This record gives sequence, C-alpha cells and structure tokens, in this order.
Amino acid sequence: MSRSERLLAGQPKFFFTMTIPEHPVTSGFPLIRGRRNRLSERRRKMVAEHRLTPSDFIAPMFIIEGKERKEPISSMPDYYRLSLDLAVRQAAVWYELGIAAVLLFVMVPESKKDNEGTEALNENGLMQTAVKKMKEAVPGLTVMTDVALDPYSSFGHDGIVRDGRIINDESVDVLARMSVSHARAGADFVAPSDMMDGRIGEIRRALEANAFPDTGIMAYSAKYASVFYGPFRDALDSAPGFGDKKTYQMDPANVREAVREAQMDEAEGADIVMVKPGLPYLDVIRAVREQVQVPVAAYNVSGEYAMIKAAAEKGWIDEEAAMLESLLAFRRAGADVIATYWAEKAVRYLTKSRV
Ligand code: PBG
Repeated sequence: MSRSERLLAGQPKFFFTMTIPEHPVTSGFPLIRGRRNRLSERRRKMVAEHRLTPSDFIAPMFIIEGKERKEPISSMPDYYRLSLDLAVRQAAVWYELGIAAVLLFVMVPESKKDNEGTEALNENGLMQTAVKKMKEAVPGLTVMTDVALDPYSSFGHDGIVRDGRIINDESVDVLARMSVSHARAGADFVAPSDMMDGRIGEIRRALEANAFPDTGIMAYSAKYASVFYGPFRDALDSAPGFGDKKTYQMDPANVREAVREAQMDEAEGADIVMVKPGLPYLDVIRAVREQVQVPVAAYNVSGEYAMIKAAAEKGWIDEEAAMLESLLAFRRAGADVIATYWAEKAVRYLTKSRV
C-alpha cells in the first residue's frame, strides 16, 4: 500500500478535506470519475479527442468505357463501376458534399492490355480523358490517379514481367512516364500503388523535368501483400495472372520496414505517404505517423468494406455504426486522410447529424 492509499483507507468515503501528499489532485476513486465526461452526448462531443469531417475522405472511383453505364460489383454492394459521363456527375456530387478528393482507377478491356502497359501512356486513354473531363466539369475537385501497371498488364502485375519476374527499373520508367501523362491531363496528385523501388524519386524528377512542379505524389509507401484486395480485383478484373504480389508488396509481418519505406518516400519527394490496407494495420499507421512529417493517408480497402457489408446484410452488425467506428479508428491511429468506399455515406451522415 502506498502512503496515499494508506491515508485514503482511513478516511470516510466523502471526506473532502483530506490531503494526499504525493498526489494532491489526482488521488483516484472516488475523486476521479471518468464517467463525468461521458454523461451526455454533448459532453462526449466536447471532450472527444478525434472527429471525422468530410475533408478527411478520399473517394475511390472505378471508371469504365462507354456511356450511361453503372455496373454493380458483386463483392462490393452499393459500389459501382461507372462510365465517364456518370462518373463526372458522381464526382460533382462528392465535391459538393465536401469530400477531399477522388482517386481514379480505370478498367481496361483485355484487348488493350500488354506486358509493357502501353495503353497506360495513351494521351487519349480512359484515365487521361477522365481526368480532363472531371477537371473541366468540377475545377475545384482534387483529382488523384492510380499509377501502376496492373489494370493495363496482360499479366495483371503492377510492373513489367520478364522470365516470370517483375522487373523494377524498367517498370519505374513506365510509371514515371505514366505519371507525367496524368499530370498533363490535369491530375492534382498521382498515386503510385505499385511498390517498385525508387519510383517516388523518379516520378518526382520526371514531373519537375516536364514542368509539373505542382503535381503532388501520394505514395502507397507501405502497401502490404494483402488478401483484403480481393473485391477490388473483382471490380477491375485485375487479379495477377500468375503467382502473387509478394515480391513487391510488403510482408504483413513487418512494421519497421513500413516506417523505412515511408521515410524513403518522404525523402524522395512524396507529399503524402500511405499505409494500406487499413484496419488490420492501425499499428503501422501509428508507427508511420510518428516517424514522418508529411501527411499520412490510410486506405480502408475493398475487403474491409465487403466484410462490414456482408455482416450487415446478414443482420449481424449495424452497418452505419460499424462504418463510423472504423473510420474514427483511422483518425485515432494517426491517419490524416482516409481513402474509403464509405466516403459518401460517412459524409452524408456527418453533415446531417447535429447533436
Ligand atoms: C493495384 C491496386 C490494388 C488496390 C489499389 N491499387 C490492388 C492490388 O494491389 O492488387 C486495392 C484497393 C482495394 O482493395 O480497395 N495497384
């Protein structure tokens, strides 16, 4: 028993003049009652350490060729592949809602895929056209583009394949040219999701050399080889044709390595670093947050979305509450911004609730 505990033990329960020499104010129960700050909704809000706001969210978008097309994705209920005309309208709505940015992915027909990702560099390709149209229609919208070869690769890999291996430096060269082509179309940020070594520095240099100093880079710095990308690969039909992505995406066992990757990307000129997936990697978000100075994004990936949707469909979980609790967990872990398929739903909830 400590001295203060001994003193307290001898006191009646509500004896207000007691003095506790070592800890004059914080003397424990009953003086300290954490529940006082939880007594009402207003009080809880007042003392909340973290909050969600519309500008916390980046909304991913899956764009397809054609017109007036809105295709459901079986493993991602309530999320759609959209043709560009509909995607532009959707983006305008999201912008009005205050969502921070859209992150564009395109679905490329099989006939346009090859090993080098040639179509990725097409100045009139779907991505480039999408960026132009979106910036024209909603100039204030922050448009981010996915940079990786997998949607364009006949092998479904994020880089060029030679002899069954994904080769680094040649892939980086294509990724840098791809980034410049997105910047030329008007992209505000390029978001390399490929995990090749050295690509952030090369992309930064290429952007500078081509007079795009204002184009940002959101680097997928700690992207893990994760099973939680499954529904996304359904959405884009982009699953690897052979093997897996473990020779470039990170091993889920590692956290120091994530910090090192993020620090390298920061040093190479990344404006935002990202950790992906999200919920199973909250510790990684925290570790990265404490070791870099640039903003940290987290990607609440397709499989995380699908799990809540599936449980909610079965009536096993409250979808909205599960969504909000998960999104708040990202902020608590230290994420400055969250890429999430919940963006619109979360923002609609946040803007209508007035407590
Ligand atoms: C591909 C890419 C993937 C995701 C974003 N970009 C999948 C992968 O690496 O195979 C996953 C996003 C999600 O699951 O929501 N470069």
